[in-house]
Formats: sequence, structure tokens, C-alpha cells
Amino acid sequence: MILIPVKASKTYEVSVTQDFNDLRQVVDGVKSGDKIAVITDTNVEKLYLSSVIDALEGFDVCVHTIPAGESSKNLSTYCTLIQDIASSSLDRSDMIITLGGGVVGDIGAFVASTYLRGIRLVAIPTTLLSMIDSSVGGKTAVDLPIGKNLVGTFYQPNAVYINVSCIDTLPTRELMSGYGELIKYAILDDRISIDDMKVLDSSLIAKAVSIKRDIVEADEYEGGVRKLLNLGHTIGHAVESLSNYTLSHGECVVKGLRAILDISSRYYDIKDSDYTQLDSIIRMLGHDCTMPYSVDEVIDYVYRDKKKKGDLIDIVLIKAKGVVEIVSMPIDKVRRYLSEYQD
Ligand code: GLY
Repeated sequence: MILIPVKASKTYEVSVTQDFNDLRQVVDGVKSGDKIAVITDTNVEKLYLSSVIDALEGFDVCVHTIPAGESSKNLSTYCTLIQDIASSSLDRSDMIITLGGGVVGDIGAFVASTYLRGIRLVAIPTTLLSMIDSSVGGKTAVDLPIGKNLVGTFYQPNAVYINVSCIDTLPTRELMSGYGELIKYAILDDRISIDDMKVLDSSLIAKAVSIKRDIVEADEYEGGVRKLLNLGHTIGHAVESLSNYTLSHGECVVKGLRAILDISSRYYDIKDSDYTQLDSIIRMLGHDCTMPYSVDEVIDYVYRDKKKKGDLIDIVLIKAKGVVEIVSMPIDKVRRYLSEYQD
């Protein structure tokens, strides 16, 4: 087992393992009361719920299953969950466990952060994307009809338990979506080499988690350096939203990364060898990098981005592998650069 300590407003450990054998020890370490509410979804419950329940023998466990998919991540599901949990009489000493991907993790953590003003939380992410990104760092969220993740809190878990073997049951598209975020980490930080990217194992996942941990520890509430995690996301989110979520998050992040590399190459004087290396990292896993929407459609969305300030948007530009910078850029300049971009 690889243990990655996180020192944020809460101190906790991310355990990276190959099975559920150590889950009980992790849960016992959080020192909860007798009751545990497990929040999961209709896909994941069939695959992993029984293993998790077995590990929790002796606790009074209630299970709350939501329909799988982004459409569950809303205030109505949140109200149902929080009322069900209140009906199960969990108190402040008790615990919520989230078992699932980003949707279950985000909404379940939002429930944990708001029920009785916050109860213990153990996250068990089951998708690659949630293992390396959303389960670590304390962002909780639900969507509103006008946009994703518009309601939420910062609330760190008490433990994160990653069973890497859960990746074996992921559909290929879901796996490719997670790889999109891994490509982002490989560009952000030199700790992930091109060779590392060729083998998806505990060590690669632990490296990605450690990179995220370091950024979260430096800037838990996203006042500065945490914005680096948005590399590829400003344009990626626009494409994701324009596709009405028919394109996955990671697919869109890779399109965003490719466009940002192009913008970066117009903004900086990037060495040819660095440009070629970055381009090949972005393409190395076979993602489709084409931009399916017009510049006007993308820029209209960027104008609605919650991270924009007036006519400026903070975007993360790339100088070389492991060398990135947050640049406050006029949105019209992004438009001009994008209109010269073609993939
Ligand atoms: N997913 C980006 C962050 O946690 O800040």
C-alpha cells in the first residue's frame, strides 16, 4: 500500500492499494461512531458494494444509491440524500463513505460537508478520473441547470481509499476520460515521465495524487497556484458544455490542452523540441484533438466562465514540460489566438 499524507485544513492520508483488504483499518483510523452511510450509484453498487459492506462488519451501515450519471448531481438528489441520512439518525460522530466516481464523490462530499455542519467522510473513488483528481483536495459540488459545479464547499475528507483494481471494470471511454487528466499532470509536472504514462499502475496514480496534493497544500482555496490544475480546462469546459456533456470531461480536457499548447506557442517563443514533445504527450494515448465548435461558440462560453474577471480570464499556458504559468489574458486575445488555431 502506498500512503500519501495530505496536510490541508484537515490532515489525512490517501491510501493507494490493489484491493479492499485495508479498508477496515482506514475506517477504524477515522474513529467514527457506530453508524456509516454509504453513498453509491446504480453501476458501482453492483460491482463493489458487497466488498465494502463486508469490510464494515459490526458497523450499523445504511446504503443510499443514486442513479448513475451527471444528471444526478443536482439539488434535488442532494435534498433526498440528506433527508434519508437524517432519517437514519446519523450524528456528528458518524461517517459518510462515498463509493463511486466523480458524481458520487462530489455530491456525497457536499452532503458530508453540510449535514450537521459537517461529518466525517471517507472517499472511495472508483474511476481513474476521481482517483487522481476529484477525490483529493476537498472540492464538493452539485450542478445547477445553468452550469456545472455552481454550488459547493471546500471540505477535506478524513481519508481517501483508492483500490486501483477498480479501473479494470471501467468502460474504455471512462478510462480515456481519466487519461485526459493524467496527460494534464504529465504536462504540469516533471515527476510523471513519458515512460510512466505507458503503464497505468499504483505508482503512476500515486504520482498524480502527490502532484495534486502538493498544489492543494500550497493553495487549498484556489487563490493562486491551485489554478494550475485548470490547465486545459477553460477551453475544455466550453467544449464539454457545448457538447451537452456527450463528450467526456477528459476528452474535452485533451482538446483544451491541444488548443492551449497552440495559444502558448503564439504567446511564448517555445523551442521546437519542447513543442514537439508536448504535442506528442497530448496525442500519445490516441485522443481526438479536433475542435468541434466554432471560435465564437467557445468564446461565448468563456465569457460565462465563473473564473473570468471582467474581460480578462486566467488561463494556464505551457512553456515546456513541467513549466507552466497562469496568465491573465483579455478574452478577445484568446479569441484571436483561437481563430488562428486548427487541428
Ligand atoms: N479539479 C481541480 C481542483 O481540484 O482544483
